[in-house]
Amino acid sequence: MQIIDGKAVASQIKQEIAIEVEAIKNAGGKTPHLAAILVGHDGGSETYVAHKVKACAECGFKSTLIRMDENVSEDELLDKVYQLNNDPDIDGFIVQLPLPKHISEQKVIEAIDFRKDVDGFHPVNVGRMSIGLPCFVSATPAGIMDLLSRYKIETKGKHCVVLGRSNIVGKPVAALMMQKSYPGNATVTVCHSATPNIKEICLSADIIIAALGSPEFLTGDMVKEGVTVIDVGTTRVPNPNTKSGFKLTGDIKFDEVSQKAAFITPVPGGVGPMTICSLMKNTLLAGKKAIYK
Ligand code: GUN
Repeated sequence: MQIIDGKAVASQIKQEIAIEVEAIKNAGGKTPHLAAILVGHDGGSETYVAHKVKACAECGFKSTLIRMDENVSEDELLDKVYQLNNDPDIDGFIVQLPLPKHISEQKVIEAIDFRKDVDGFHPVNVGRMSIGLPCFVSATPAGIMDLLSRYKIETKGKHCVVLGRSNIVGKPVAALMMQKSYPGNATVTVCHSATPNIKEICLSADIIIAALGSPEFLTGDMVKEGVTVIDVGTTRVPNPNTKSGFKLTGDIKFDEVSQKAAFITPVPGGVGPMTICSLMKNTLLAGKKAIYK
């Protein structure tokens, strides 16, 4: 059994990006610039955005954090989005989710110029991804694909079972795993809350990508020997024995599944660190105008 070390891969990719950015700067090119809009003071969002700003510094990017009040109106937020759309120094930007209830996330996502949508959430990027055109692929699916290819995991003709059908992980990763190029070309089954025979389906899987948000859902008796397992779940399960009072728990019962798996991601340290790394990759592509002019 081999652990898929997302932390190590992410660190390596960030180093590769930093080297490329240094070369761009030395050649007189523009420093990639990522902006993030953070509305309110949600604890999780604060942490995510701080990590993104730190990753920008590690990669040699410029970053701008725009804070808006919890009570900001939808129109004010949309105005800020239009301002960033039209700012030539900003190559890409994100609006950190979730947003307060009075603001439509979909409206905000669709207001972002798709050429600057480094989160890959805009319908143009989602649509282009699903038909295999160059685009910004969203962070978690892109990170999973990077892990599979960095560990040279065979995917062609394999049965890949995706657990979960969310717009940000399940659906896009299923689309990527069935595309013809590597890492893909797999036969993909998507299971969700209305799937009656999940155990039988998982037992026939060569690759399982678990993105249900259901702690320790996948148990040892649900997988075959030699399976590759990617755990996207990160649920904060209350735990009095930890300093923070909770334990970050994946969708996989690691102790059981790791007995049978050939490759497996840990939680934390698997898919998580890859997501920010994918955002950095998209920002570099945006800075280079590599996808959209
Ligand atoms: N909230 C949690 N994950 C993400 C992400 O990848 N992008 C944005 N914009 N918000 C998030």
